[in-house]
Amino acid sequence: MELKLLSEGAEAKIYLVKEKVKEENKKNKKTEEKSKEKNEEINETKKTTKTKIKKYILKERIKKNYRHKKLDEKIINFRTKREYKILKKLEETTEKQKEKNNEKNVFFPKAIKIEKNKITLQYIEGKEYNKIIKKLTLKEKNKIIKEIAKKIFLMHKKNIIHSDITPKNILLDKNLKVYFIDFGLSFFSERIEDKVYDLYMTKETFSEEFYNKLLKEYKKMYKKTFPEKIKLLEERIIRVEKRGKNKQKQRK
Ligand SMILES: Nc1ncnc2c1ncn2[C@@H]1O[C@H](COP(=O)(O)OP(=O)(O)OP(=O)(O)O)[C@@H](O)[C@H]1O
Ligand SMILES: [Mg+2]
Repeated sequence: MELKLLSEGAEAKIYLVKEKVKEENKKNKKTEEKSKEKNEEINETKKTTKTKIKKYILKERIKKNYRHKKLDEKIINFRTKREYKILKKLEETTEKQKEKNNEKNVFFPKAIKIEKNKITLQYIEGKEYNKIIKKLTLKEKNKIIKEIAKKIFLMHKKNIIHSDITPKNILLDKNLKVYFIDFGLSFFSERIEDKVYDLYMTKETFSEEFYNKLLKEYKKMYKKTFPEKIKLLEERIIRVEKRGKNKQKQRK
C-alpha cells in the first residue's frame, strides 16, 4: 500500500492510497477439437492473474490546537460521521433511482470506510472546477453550470444541504462530468430557506454571474417538479438576497 499526500486544507489531510490487488481472470477459451467422428466444441477454462492498482482517498481530519481538546474531538467526530452518513444516504437513494429509470446519476464519491477521524472514499479521477474552467468555451461553461444546478436540485430533493459549494469542492472528470465532494458541513433540512442559502453562497465562492445562471437553471427545475411551491421559492430568494445585501452594507 502506498500513501501520497494530495492536499492539506484547513480541515483535513487528503491522501491518495494506491493498493495492489491481484485479480483472477477466468477466461473461457473456445477450442475446437478436430475429431474425426464428431465435431464438438470444448470449453477450456484458462486462469490468469493480473495485478491491478486500486486508488482510494483517505480523508483525515486535523486536530485544531486553538479549540478545547474535548470540543475539538467532538467536532471532528461529528463531521467525519456526518460526511459518511450523507454519502451513504446519497448512494442509497441513487441506487433506488437507478433501478427505476436505469439512469446513472452518481455525482459524489462512494464512502467505503469510517474509522474515528478518517474516512475512505472512492477516488474521483478529476480536477477541481477552478483549475479547468478557464480553458473552456462559454458553451461548455454554461453546460457545466446547468449540470451543477441539476445535481444541487437532486440533493435538495432528498433534503440534503451541501453547505460548502465552492470551486474546490466540485470536481470535473475528463468528460466534464460533475462531482461534488466535501460533505463534512452538510446537513438534512426540508426548509426552502436553507436550500436557497446553499445556492446563494455561490455568489461569494464563485461569482455573481455564476450564481445568477445557477439560480435560473435551478428555478426551471423547481417549477417543473414543484409548481405549487414556486411562489414560495421566489419569496425565499428575495428574503435571502435582501439579508445578504444588508450584511454587505454592515461590512462597509
Ligand atoms: N474523492 C476524491 N477524489 C479525488 N480527489 C479528492 C477527493 N476528495 C478530495 N479530493 C481532493 O482533495 C481536496 C480537499 O478535499 P476536501 O475538500 O474533502 O477537504 P478540505 O479539508 O475541505 O480541503 P480544503 O480545506 O482544501 O477545501 C479537494 O479539493 C480535491 O482536490
Ligand atoms: Mg474542500
